[in-house]
Amino acid sequence: MNESRALCQVDDIPDFGAISVRIESSTGGFEIILMREGDEVFGYHNECPHQGRNLDYVPGKFLTKDGRIICAAHGATFTIKTGERVSGPCNSGLLRVPVRVVDGQVFSA
Ligand code: FES
Repeated sequence: MNESRALCQVDDIPDFGAISVRIESSTGGFEIILMREGDEVFGYHNECPHQGRNLDYVPGKFLTKDGRIICAAHGATFTIKTGERVSGPCNSGLLRVPVRVVDGQVFSA
């Protein structure tokens, strides 16, 4: 059974900003990035495709600017809406984690 879980409130995420949340699973769980643009929220694994590091500069704190998130390790840049790579030393984008918004709450899909 695939159970949807509430991850946070939309308002917990700064507009055009990002937070991290942990998804628990039977294999120990993993951390995802939630990014917001207005009423839309986008989820991605917190793992840079360059060297597999987390994108945050300290746990849960991310560099964002002009609708993009920037990896704190070597500066790879990705769009908030699609996770596509814009610039930097990797060849691919962020791995999407489907989420949905219902009544101001963010759920794993
Ligand atoms: S690990 Fe993200 S740019 Fe190198």
